[in-house]
Amino acid sequence: VNQNQPYRTSYHFQPQQNWMNDPNGPMYYKGVYHLFYQHNPEAATFGDRMVWGHSVSYDLINWIHLNHAIEPSEPYDINSCWSGSATILEGEKPAILYTGIDENKHQVQNLALPKDLSDPFLREWVKHPQNPVMTPPSGVEVDNFRDPSTAWKGGDRKWRVVIGAQNGDEGKVILYQSDDFVNWTVDPNPFYASDNTRVCECPDFFPVSINSTNGLDTSIQNASVRHVLKISYLTRQHDYYFLGKYVSDQENFIPDTKFTGTSSDLRFDYGKFYASKSFFDYAKNRRILWGWVNESDTSQDDIHKGWAGLQSIPRQVWLDKSGKRLIQWPIEEVEKLRDKQITITGEKLTTGSTLEVSGITASQVDVDVLFEIPELESAEWLDPSGVDPELLCSQGDASISGTIGPFGLLALASKDLTEQTAVYFRIYKALNKYIGLMCSDQSRSSLRQDLDKTTYGTFFDIDPNVKTISLRILIDHSIIESFGEEGKVCITSRVYPSLAIDKEANLYVFNNGIKNVVISKLNAWSMKQALLGNEGHNSSA
Ligand code: FRU
Repeated sequence: VNQNQPYRTSYHFQPQQNWMNDPNGPMYYKGVYHLFYQHNPEAATFGDRMVWGHSVSYDLINWIHLNHAIEPSEPYDINSCWSGSATILEGEKPAILYTGIDENKHQVQNLALPKDLSDPFLREWVKHPQNPVMTPPSGVEVDNFRDPSTAWKGGDRKWRVVIGAQNGDEGKVILYQSDDFVNWTVDPNPFYASDNTRVCECPDFFPVSINSTNGLDTSIQNASVRHVLKISYLTRQHDYYFLGKYVSDQENFIPDTKFTGTSSDLRFDYGKFYASKSFFDYAKNRRILWGWVNESDTSQDDIHKGWAGLQSIPRQVWLDKSGKRLIQWPIEEVEKLRDKQITITGEKLTTGSTLEVSGITASQVDVDVLFEIPELESAEWLDPSGVDPELLCSQGDASISGTIGPFGLLALASKDLTEQTAVYFRIYKALNKYIGLMCSDQSRSSLRQDLDKTTYGTFFDIDPNVKTISLRILIDHSIIESFGEEGKVCITSRVYPSLAIDKEANLYVFNNGIKNVVISKLNAWSMKQALLGNEGHNSSA
């Protein structure tokens, strides 16, 4: 690994070196959180012999890296062990279903069980003698059948699991049932299908409570829950979710909305966040979501750095009061890393003002700010129909003045502001409603070339009575995770400044709107480093 590492993170999960992609099989089991992940131990690029890396934690923040849990070894997984999920079976026995790339390069599903349940870290996993337990059924391409979800139980006590698939241009999610978790029967009707999307990757299916922020065990079905189906569309590299009604005896999920391929589709994150997976944390009664945050530099850069890929800070997820979207918020444990604190209150930001937030480590910081906004009536008019918010964010950049906004933060900024990532809001008036626009503008994030500096953005509804707007952002050297309006909208980005590195990084609050906004309250905390240490000897170490 290269020693000069300005982009290596301090409190995000990453292996010691080399390539990482999807989070796999996250679970809480008897006092320990487990995270497995797609890993190429040989290089900082994706590989043809992928393994399951494995790390454990007591708090989801500090991690102990263990030996690989699952590696290619058998004809049914000799060409890679791809993504999958964990399920806790009867008698508190965890089980993993994962995709094997077999000797013919077909995708099959395999079962692995802990060798020794008395090992609190569940270090060793044994592949079941009946593997593969599922092979591509008819109507599914042999090389597009992957990523088993966490299983759930129906009213008939049978297990169900869903698998991502493709048939031609059609994307599918296929459902299987089993009495014993070993012998599986395919349901001839797809659980979900979408035309012209191509493959559905990493389906995730879980209940959410309609009246509580608490999470639920994946098998819960009753009148006070709704269900969420998440699909990672490979061709778009985004995680989309659908809220809907699950009728288990008919094996039928009825989504409230259809996938449209437009900016009105619901996504977990409007930046970089893919192949996510959730689990129920029964220790704290919450559902937690992990997502892979890919690099935005070139693979040459990754080879030079010696690593690629991060996991997001785990997020608690629950149903918004409106019932129309999910809320996501960084797990409370991340706050344990908060160190030196700076507070600003009641500071007016007139048009064109930029205020430095000094006294914190701006390259490694947690910021929570509440803006008091002007009367909404003054907002500019916008007809949002057919408008792509991402395009709006990249055209009207943060320096161009509007009426209400742009206002927000300049993260990882150099002193002269030549480098900066602007995370900001604008507010518009539309027919009978107000609309918020949240942007993360990477276009000036670095003087370096050859980076993907795409600007991200999304619309969100604004309550006509609202007086304030909140923004929480987690900055960690090369990742910026932004949560607007208490977790209603999330945007994650990757940036690689050349000037605004370590002590040269600064943080500012700005307002380029004609109307004043007020920093009602801003708290910023320098963040301590999380502990990520090795245990034992990986073949890659
Ligand atoms: C998603 C994905 C999965 C697959 C895995 C391979 O990023 O393509 O569909 O199982 O990565 O690493």
